[in-house]
Amino acid sequence: MQNAALARLGLDWRYLAFEVHPDDLREVIQGAKRMKFIGLNLTVPHKLLAIPMMDALDETAKTWGAVNTVRFEAQNTEGNWQPLRHFKESVPREIRAQGFNTDADAITRSLREDLGVKLEGAKVLLLGAGGAGRVAALKLASEGVAELFLVNRTMDKAEAIAAEIRARFPKVKTTVGYPKPPAMALDLLLNATSLGLKPGDGSPLDTGKFDLKNARAVYDMIYNPAETALLKTAREAGCRTANGLGMLLYQGARALELWTGETAPVDVMREALVKHIYGH
Ligand code: ATR
Repeated sequence: MQNAALARLGLDWRYLAFEVHPDDLREVIQGAKRMKFIGLNLTVPHKLLAIPMMDALDETAKTWGAVNTVRFEAQNTEGNWQPLRHFKESVPREIRAQGFNTDADAITRSLREDLGVKLEGAKVLLLGAGGAGRVAALKLASEGVAELFLVNRTMDKAEAIAAEIRARFPKVKTTVGYPKPPAMALDLLLNATSLGLKPGDGSPLDTGKFDLKNARAVYDMIYNPAETALLKTAREAGCRTANGLGMLLYQGARALELWTGETAPVDVMREALVKHIYGH
């Protein structure tokens, strides 16, 4: 999707994938800086490890405690830090790495644009309390959901996130576990577990504890397969559904905007993603 976007923007840049051992991350970031890379994306497990390796952290990285986008910057003649794209002739020797997080905004953009969910005042059941689940829970709380139910196989992790939300967003009613009977209608059920990624995986939802008929919309962060067991049963129960392709798309679109300073050609990027992932 990035290379399709770069072609559309007429930039002679390339987006490449590198497999990096966590022990080598610091050296790799330093090397990219020295080679005057425009920027980087980081994924598991580098998003947390990179925090102390950044020379500056944008508010998004501070707020969500993770870096998925790095932008290399240098100072212009007025001493202001600018993306490297800004330097047409020669790049100053001193370069800094600024860390951003574009994942959190991508979650809510996808929920709004791909699923049509209104988050303010919503009641939400969130499955999963790993890295993605934590950011989703905090981001939903920051958007003013009314009530959050947090469910995770390892309950302690859900408890820890609930405590963080109570401290940072006390207006949000946060409960660990499924809604108790009588059945309550929820605006959104969101899967942030990795259950559903592998062929033969079941659903992360305990249908004995929550009936999908009581959810208006269901979002699965997993985008491959396109329809997980959870999304299939949700669709059959009459829920609106969407998978995590939009999250992947929007975090990438925002990263591209940070590097280029231009509006991302989202349609071109979506088309490239769909073609690459689903082959059509
Ligand atoms: P990510 O960065 O994608 O969030 P993660 O931090 O490893 O990855 O989190 C994975 C999430 O999927 C966790 O909520 C995990 O539950 P635990 O906290 O109990 O480990 C959940 N998960 C993974 N495999 C699962 C399974 N077989 N059944 C239920 N939940 C599962």
